[in-house]
Amino acid sequence: MRLNVAVQMDPIERINIRGDSTFALLLEAQVRAHPLSYYTPDQLAMRDGKVSATVWPLTVRDAVGDHFTLGEPRHAELTSFDVILLRQDPPFDLAYITSTHMLERVAPKTLVVNDPTHVRNAPEKVFVTEFPDLMPPTLITRDLDAIKRFRAEQGDIVMKPLYGKGGEAVFRLAGEDLNFGSLYDLFAATFREQWVVQKFLPAVKAGDKRIILVDGEFAGAVNRVPAPDDLRSNMVRGGVPKATDLTPREREICARLGPALRERGLLFVGIDVIDGFLTEINVTSPTGIRSVKNLGGADIAGLIWDKIEEKRR
Ligand SMILES: Nc1ncnc2c1ncn2[C@@H]1O[C@H](COP(=O)(O)OP(=O)(O)O)[C@@H](O)[C@H]1O
Ligand SMILES: [Mg+2]
Repeated sequence: MRLNVAVQMDPIERINIRGDSTFALLLEAQVRAHPLSYYTPDQLAMRDGKVSATVWPLTVRDAVGDHFTLGEPRHAELTSFDVILLRQDPPFDLAYITSTHMLERVAPKTLVVNDPTHVRNAPEKVFVTEFPDLMPPTLITRDLDAIKRFRAEQGDIVMKPLYGKGGEAVFRLAGEDLNFGSLYDLFAATFREQWVVQKFLPAVKAGDKRIILVDGEFAGAVNRVPAPDDLRSNMVRGGVPKATDLTPREREICARLGPALRERGLLFVGIDVIDGFLTEINVTSPTGIRSVKNLGGADIAGLIWDKIEEKRR
């Protein structure tokens, strides 16, 4: 089966192909002889309800510095594609939300992965709150008194932006930390949205595990161990990827999430688990499939394309 595939992503010249999951998906699509087209989010247009974009035929190569070639651009209605990979990176702002509204119009003729309606409804740190018994104690607010009460109850806490990514502005505050008041003021001035206040999990030293689910089934995992002088496990902050297995508790988390993800058309999802506690469900543009494969794990790009092909059959 050949599927006409388009990818909506940020500028392809800027990606780091060694770590990029989108790139792994594109390489695998090409191996399967699915013709690829490429466009960036700012190419989207909706004319009288019909969504189109200027798209470029794309070929990819696993060669640093020479990883893609674009053909001649053309204007295409997005319903002319069988599959669109929605792989735009956060920020999850109104521009992002608007692009999910536009992509919503191409269903059911075109399969968008992940389903744009549910991507919009499931920001990573909000979606987890549907599974309160799997999360660490977590408060989402910008109210000073609410945070003070939570802090008095929990002792050491973490404060982080609700729509943060890559470990941006993640702070640990010990119970006695006198910087709390100033940090509160700084957060209140910097972020318009409520933010996340969470019990500090000391076992983060041993890592924050990225677990990948494909159509609701466990597909692979990588543990990310923070640098000795940092709280944050994100690889962009010096976190080191390590091969890993799932604990029984992590298997239970996957089993609980599976049906909810399948129901919502969230085919490629990365969840984050610290010490058996679920902290994020990444549905926008999850990463990690290259690390899993490099560490001897499954070929997740292959599993994802198997599923997409099955759904289009
Ligand atoms: N409650 C917590 N306890 C301990 N460490 C945390 C906690 N929350 C976040 N961290 C650390 O900060 C990193 C980034 O936080 P995370 O919630 O994953 O946000 P981001 O979207 O920026 O990745 C985590 O990988 C982890 O190392
Ligand atoms: Mg994270």
